[in-house]
Amino acid sequence: MKIRLTLLGSFFLVASSALHALDSVPKSEYRQRRTALAAKMKTGVAILFANEEPALEYQEFRQDEDFYYLTGWNEHGAAMIVIPAADAQPETPGTALGRRAAQPYREILFLPSRIARLEKYTGAQMDAATPEITAITGFDEVLPMTELPAVLNKLALSDRMRLRKVWAEQNSPEAKSLLNFVGSTLGSPEIDAAEDVSQPIMELRAIKSPAEVALIRKASNASIAGQLAGMRAIKPEVRERTVAGVELAKMMEDGCERASYPPIVGSGPNSTTLHYSENSRTMQAGDLVVIDAAGEYSMYASDITRTMPVSGHFTARQREIYEIVLGAQRAAAAAFVAGTSKINDPEHKRPDSLDTVAFDYINAHGKDLHGQPLGQYMIHGIGHLVGIDVHDPWDYSRPLDKGMVFTIEPGIYLPEEGFGVRIEDTYYVDESGKLIDLIEKLPHEAKDVEAAMKK
Ligand code: GLY
Ligand code: MN
Ligand code: MN
Repeated sequence: MKIRLTLLGSFFLVASSALHALDSVPKSEYRQRRTALAAKMKTGVAILFANEEPALEYQEFRQDEDFYYLTGWNEHGAAMIVIPAADAQPETPGTALGRRAAQPYREILFLPSRIARLEKYTGAQMDAATPEITAITGFDEVLPMTELPAVLNKLALSDRMRLRKVWAEQNSPEAKSLLNFVGSTLGSPEIDAAEDVSQPIMELRAIKSPAEVALIRKASNASIAGQLAGMRAIKPEVRERTVAGVELAKMMEDGCERASYPPIVGSGPNSTTLHYSENSRTMQAGDLVVIDAAGEYSMYASDITRTMPVSGHFTARQREIYEIVLGAQRAAAAAFVAGTSKINDPEHKRPDSLDTVAFDYINAHGKDLHGQPLGQYMIHGIGHLVGIDVHDPWDYSRPLDKGMVFTIEPGIYLPEEGFGVRIEDTYYVDESGKLIDLIEKLPHEAKDVEAAMKK
């Protein structure tokens, strides 16, 4: 008995430490998100699946973002459902044809069964039979994965209307198979006509809690340290990939689990290619190098770009363009008004977009080699939301507001002159509507970038 208890205790420790390998927002916050989702759905049932292990050996597992947002659960092969509360109602309104029973709010996490043979590879896992599993996961109910079709079948039998509105991720093969199975076994083909659960979750994800902002701040601080280490490693005859490796090493030393996107280290002509990430060129004296690199801390991203002169000093022309890009970033940040400003307007035409502010600034400063304004060389949107994804989902026809985290990243790309400049910071809109630059501590001015390269 004593041995059994000891073994149980040590399993519990191992299992809990796996759950907490990442820093987390308070567990109660995940439940608040689930009840907020239920309030947005009003009716029906939401079904989300965890990601499966990636097919290729070199790819690491990363949890499905919406599933992680609602659960904090970072293991593959799980599923969850949320069912909003509903009052009892007549089966067919206006008739006396039976009643649909009241439905209390219900949330269930489904976990796969443990397989002893696989645990030799993965280490100890948790399943629905793990002691204290509801306390560990924060879910009201935790059931074996094998119960998922049975739960849906029971739900359909007690209230068929409810399964007419199934909220699922639109591109989830697991959801499609499950709904096909449940639909065909119940003879209700309409069950697979699912609502897109990502829409209400997008609304929730857009507004960050203080605990989420704290994680994004950690990602940002580690990424600032990575960028500073990278600046010091830039020299003629050094390969772009070497600098990418220096940055990643520093971000990981400072707590990031991975890069939040493939690092871009584009020198010389590569500085004009927006998503260049081959990083295979050897840098040359006289080049500019655009470094767009940041890390992810406990599933939350940062996003940073700086542009450096490989020989340590900007030429007069490089400095002129650099200062215009910096001026455009500052003009856009200064113009921001919570509840009004929009971003990601690649046409730079909307009067309320920060893109237009940066575009107008760039057009009013400097000229190309043909005496033409430089606005035509600002070839991408000014920014995007940041969160669990470096490009968090958002409907960019809507304004930005308090609690949102987003980038301002103007750039001028001049292939004819062999260089491009981009400067990118990640910002947070605080509860008073003020814009806070989370990358404030990384040099912005050209002279401060030059000084940081020497340290
Ligand atoms: N790092 C990708 C981007 O700036 O959007
Ligand atoms: Mn970005
Ligand atoms: Mn970026």
